Amino acid sequence: MIDMVNIIEKKKAGQALSEEDIRGFVKGVTDGSIPDYQTSALLMAICFQGMDRAETFCLTDAMLHSGQTMDLKEVKGVKVDKHSTGGVGDKTTLIVAPLAAACGVSIAKMSGRGLGFTGGTIDKLESIPGFRVQLSPEEFLQTVETAGMSVVGQTQDVAPADKKLYALRDVTGTVNNISLIASSIMSKKLASGSDAIVLDVKCGQGSFNKTQKAAEDLGRLMVDIGTDAGKKVVAVITDMDQPLGNAVGNSLEVIEAIDTLKGKGPADITELALTLAGYMIYCGRKAASPEEGRRMAEEALTSGKALDVFRKFVTMQGGDVSCVDDYSVFKQPLFKGEAKAGAGGHVAGIKADSIGLASQHLGAGRKTKEDAIDLSAGILLLKKVGDTIENGEPVAILFSDSEEKLAAGIAEAESAYTFSAEKPETPILIKEIIE
Ligand code: URA
Repeated sequence: MIDMVNIIEKKKAGQALSEEDIRGFVKGVTDGSIPDYQTSALLMAICFQGMDRAETFCLTDAMLHSGQTMDLKEVKGVKVDKHSTGGVGDKTTLIVAPLAAACGVSIAKMSGRGLGFTGGTIDKLESIPGFRVQLSPEEFLQTVETAGMSVVGQTQDVAPADKKLYALRDVTGTVNNISLIASSIMSKKLASGSDAIVLDVKCGQGSFNKTQKAAEDLGRLMVDIGTDAGKKVVAVITDMDQPLGNAVGNSLEVIEAIDTLKGKGPADITELALTLAGYMIYCGRKAASPEEGRRMAEEALTSGKALDVFRKFVTMQGGDVSCVDDYSVFKQPLFKGEAKAGAGGHVAGIKADSIGLASQHLGAGRKTKEDAIDLSAGILLLKKVGDTIENGEPVAILFSDSEEKLAAGIAEAESAYTFSAEKPETPILIKEIIE
């Protein structure tokens, strides 16, 4: 039995915790034997004193072994996973997974639902009529074998210690600590059983990493944890000051992902997807370098091979594949309206967090875990940073099932835009790559 008071005192005094301390703590959190007040006290001490690399790795490893881990041995070749720290309009998984799978990399991905601005990848996929996000282990492996990729909902049994700790962190002001964030993300990723992981670490207004430095520090720590776990991990630091692509909302983002796989996607999302896919193909040992991986991803895009993978994947998971060619298959929203520019000149900025909030007002995101989301609600941005604009011109079209929600969304979206007479500098999308 561990002595929690002693562990809390040690961390409060700035000492490193031993492996026995950390593993005992995680075991006690998982089996419920440590009361929430002691767990919260330790979390707060960690926030003030931090953890070193060895402690952070130990915490990650203990959390990953607190529940079920996925065994992907039956899937041939190098399995590669991808994770984004989350942002507004981020539908890259739906594009990079087919791109990498079309180049021979096996993608067996567990993904989450979203809390906040829009749904997560799993919610987005559920906007395809019939699509099943819960597969039996046999169906999951069969889909990876046949289509080259599968995306399913994360089961309750993955890293249950993280689930308990995250719920407490959320209500005790202890979310924002680099070791707690890195171990939380990496415990779930490592439990998913892939051999390599490409991380998209966002920075900017629409991310919890407000600065590039914070994103780089987090990316580096997650790469270190992966290395210590014997996995290849790459962190790509990318911009989340303005939303990614033009579509924000569940079915709207699936449609934009399909458009991108048809070679008709916005430039920013296409660029990011090709870069991430290039690294996934390289990490999956199908290319000798990330540059070669990117060239292969480009070929998979222009030849239509990646779109073929997407069709197969949707079909195998029970989705109505006609959605790829006929977007009217998606649930249609009842109301639509425009957000308009309050000045002319150029779009100087689009606050990603305000656009995220607007999409939540429209019904596309959850405020609490229990909320239902409206899969057809969302925003299509007509103007991005640097575009020219006239006063009163529409900057975005918004969709919702309620006129009241639509009005709230429009007001929030209008507040997201800022304007300038001068053309602003083009934002840099891919800021840094940490291997
Ligand atoms: N995402 C997670 O899964 N955990 C965190 O702590 C932060 C973001």
